Amino acid sequence: MAKLVSVRVAGRGALKADLLVVARFKGLPIKLDMLPRAVARRIQQAIDGGAFPWQRERRHYLATGNKELPSVVLYGLGPSRDLEWRDVAAWLGSVVAEAGKSGARSLALVVPKHTLLEGEGAAERVARHLGMASYRFDEFKGEHKISTLSRIVLLPPEDSSVWRRGVATGKSLAQASALTRDLANTPPNVATPEWMAERARAEAESLGMTAQILAPDELESRGMGGILAVGSGSRNSPRLVRLEWGEEGPIAALVGKGVTFDTGGISIKPASKMDEMKYDKCGACTVLGIAHAVATLELPIRLRAYLPFAENMPDGGSYRPGDIVRCFNGKTVEIINTDAEGRMILADALAWATAEKPDALFEYSTLTGAAVVALGMSGAALYSPDDELAGGLLDAAETSGERLWRMPLWSEFKEQMKGAHADLRNSGGRWGGANTAAAFLSNFVDGTERWAHWDIAGPAYVGADGKGSVGATGFGVATTTLWLRRWSAAPE
Ligand code: BES
Ligand code: MN
Ligand code: ZN
Repeated sequence: MAKLVSVRVAGRGALKADLLVVARFKGLPIKLDMLPRAVARRIQQAIDGGAFPWQRERRHYLATGNKELPSVVLYGLGPSRDLEWRDVAAWLGSVVAEAGKSGARSLALVVPKHTLLEGEGAAERVARHLGMASYRFDEFKGEHKISTLSRIVLLPPEDSSVWRRGVATGKSLAQASALTRDLANTPPNVATPEWMAERARAEAESLGMTAQILAPDELESRGMGGILAVGSGSRNSPRLVRLEWGEEGPIAALVGKGVTFDTGGISIKPASKMDEMKYDKCGACTVLGIAHAVATLELPIRLRAYLPFAENMPDGGSYRPGDIVRCFNGKTVEIINTDAEGRMILADALAWATAEKPDALFEYSTLTGAAVVALGMSGAALYSPDDELAGGLLDAAETSGERLWRMPLWSEFKEQMKGAHADLRNSGGRWGGANTAAAFLSNFVDGTERWAHWDIAGPAYVGADGKGSVGATGFGVATTTLWLRRWSAAPE
């Protein structure tokens, strides 16, 4: 797995780093008393001399002459009252990027005093953003293998034991999302359904979870026609993985779409950006990241993950428009469009998860282009019939800095998904495409009230034309883990 920068809180020992980062708000003094006196004096001189800009995105470099802390980079953070977490995240991202370019191996970061940057939650976010910013996917590259920056020491603005706890959690979350990103970034010629299933198993077992993998013969005998139909056009046959963890506590079931490549099948997609459909397994990868976080943070819950993996290809054996497919819960689906394949594999997985009676059920999928049309790239569409659950998730998203927006599950969308010659159809046409997809899924969770569907097609990855570094983002891991932490502390 990708190795992230190590982040820790400064202890009693002497401070030593290739690069010292100090930030400044407009009009506010900075606290430098934790630095060696000569270094602090040098920085103060720069400020007094007007060389240290407070304007955001401005920076200034200083050589100190000090052996332990030879160089300083001073960042402006703008007026303090305007600061938002998004700015802090962007700043931490540029600190890591610049340090990497400068060739520094170690970094000391003075966390400025600000109300946003107080408490364990702030420490957690700082560590998470730093860890995530250091993520690279270069497994397939001959060059750039070595990222030089390997250590970050934080000089927090307050009590360091609070910061130590927060930093530990933030590191676990960054590590968990790195797992999501590594798996999602892996190309589709490597990450076949079988490969993904084996990776999920290996990861699960190393976390003390049990894993079960269903191959096509078993999918057949269990009546999981949705997964089989989608996988039928590929030489890489489908799999369904079930992971289980924990002995007691409330049961959370997590389901994730694992389409290892989505050509659209017989209803084939246009060539442009089809390469991005390697990210169509992001939902399953998100679930694996959450499982990783839950296990490393040892949350007192029981977790079950259901991960359907299939490759959607055009072939003589493919399922076709017009076919009628029977899913695990007995419902039949008339295929209108083979490119609406995600909901077909999720139907079986959701029905299985539901049959095992979880206390909460979350499902993640890069399900529709319509969700991206509605919300853009930065946020996910959230669907849930449970107002309290939706509220709790939106609140967790706000706290962790991920964008989530609730969308409707109106009855007319469910009507729209009824089939002419089967119980359901798999496409309801163009309008409200994200909503009709969610309504379709609601047919497979009968009896589970506390469920939510996350359409992460927009935020799950950054494409070649997107903002930020290209690749999977790990979206959803932090928010869901936070919700699960709160839930495990006060279930119900
Ligand atoms: N994987 C796609 C959705 C998608 C599109 C994800 C763009 C990320 C970026 C999904 O399988 C799909 O093709 N959905 C169709 C559904 C339609 C045929 C009802 C879509 O959104 O067009
Ligand atoms: Mn598709
Ligand atoms: Zn798809």
